[in-house]
Amino acid sequence: MDKILHTFNGTEFTVGHAILEFSYLLAAILFVWGLKLLSHPESARRGNFWAAAGMILAMITTLFLHEGSTGSRIQLMNVVVIVITIGIGTAVGLMISKKVKMTAMPELVSFFNATGGAASALVGLLEFGNPENESLLVTLLGLIIGSIAFSGSLIAYGKLAGKIGGIHAGFMKFVNIALLLGIIGLTVYVLLQPDPQTLAPMVYLLLGLTLLYGVLFVMPIGGADMPVVISLLNSLTGIAAAMAGFIYHNLAMILGGIFVGAAGTILTLLMCKAMNRSLINVIIGGFGGGGGTAGEEGGTVKEISLSDAAVLLAYSQKVVVVPGYGLAVAQAQHTVHELEKLLENKSVQLVYGIHPVAGRMPGHMNVLLAEADVPYDKLVEMEEINKDIGNVDVVIVVGANDVVNPAANDTPGSPIYGMPVINAARAKNVIVMKRGMGKGYAGIENPLFFKDNTRMLFGNAKDSIQKLVAEINTL
Ligand code: TAP
Repeated sequence: MDKILHTFNGTEFTVGHAILEFSYLLAAILFVWGLKLLSHPESARRGNFWAAAGMILAMITTLFLHEGSTGSRIQLMNVVVIVITIGIGTAVGLMISKKVKMTAMPELVSFFNATGGAASALVGLLEFGNPENESLLVTLLGLIIGSIAFSGSLIAYGKLAGKIGGIHAGFMKFVNIALLLGIIGLTVYVLLQPDPQTLAPMVYLLLGLTLLYGVLFVMPIGGADMPVVISLLNSLTGIAAAMAGFIYHNLAMILGGIFVGAAGTILTLLMCKAMNRSLINVIIGGFGGGGGTAGEEGGTVKEISLSDAAVLLAYSQKVVVVPGYGLAVAQAQHTVHELEKLLENKSVQLVYGIHPVAGRMPGHMNVLLAEADVPYDKLVEMEEINKDIGNVDVVIVVGANDVVNPAANDTPGSPIYGMPVINAARAKNVIVMKRGMGKGYAGIENPLFFKDNTRMLFGNAKDSIQKLVAEINTL
């Protein structure tokens, strides 16, 4: 292992070093393969497995083959401490993820994210004073980004779990801009000093300011906008981990961090695009949590009786179910699957139309329906559903609102104008299941409910579907 293969710029490269670097390359390939598999619900579990295998490989080889700057391997005592710490972390992580409910997934992601940010910030804090550290800018960036991700994610967790409220004062924008300018100014000041590594108090001040910024940046954001912010914080954690990787010249950390950072950034932008909102609009709180006006207000709605709905569905050829946030609230995924099987037994063709931001977290509807064992091939993406929606006999809207709002297509003044939606209004018949005339996340009226071909089935989604199933069974 210690045989020297070649010497470059005075550094000796051993067999152990070559194995270590090769294991990092292998780990990176496994991360990419894992990410690829994660892009489909059917292969997502395997994706998690392979990406985790890459991480375990990188951890084991680092532990036994990494050489410090003095050329010595990690001390045995340090290995023991590291293994015990990893053991505790794994046990806690396993316990939490076994207990957590599907609906609390964003909170869990946020909590884990906070720990990642804290780890990178700690690396920055420890390495700043290290005289052998040559990359001070990267160290400070790791510290700044990591601590913002840490405190921001903790606040996001608290807000999602309903443990803390928000501050919605308009002046927060100015406080945050002032803080950000202060952080940039202090960083430049520290870097310009002839001997910056002696400036420990300044670095602690920087840490304090960035922790405060993380808190104040997330505090005013509307509770329902949290998934977008969590994804943004997630990408920050990845970038901070990559910075820590640069400090240690560790390829696995750099690549792992960049993958997390890039995936988080792409997801953030996709969510914003699917809601037709800019990231700034989400952060400043455009329509999150209410407010907003729509074009076509009011009108009269027509209700449908259970027996009429049962007959209409049982004698249809093509039915599309559009699930939304209300399906998650009512936990109606199992009942809707029951309705699907029942109608299929009556030769009705039924699929689900999935809007990318239906619900309140990425993939919310996919996860819920997978929980109820709905086959993946029945989940059809919005663009596909819209192609043939004019030939659909009945669209059943289950607890969805904004994602089927035609104002997004035809009301230029509407806050959701331009957002791609499922064009339910174009189907032959529409049945909308919701409790009353409550608004959706965007807080605006939905003209779909007043259309001639739409009828409302009021009530909790789960109760309504259960009654509908019972009614269809009597036919
Ligand atoms: P929403 O527009 O939020 O509408 C949900 C509807 O469900 C409400 O109008 C409500 O009406 C109904 N409802 C609530 N509880 C119900 C129950 N127990 N039974 C039956 N109906 C119930 O939902 P959506 O159409 O899924 O749209 C999602 C929105 O969230 C979009 O605006 C999207 O931009 C936003 N958003 C999504 C994400 C992600 S990543 N998915 C992230 C942030 C924001 P009633 O009160 O009358 O019942």
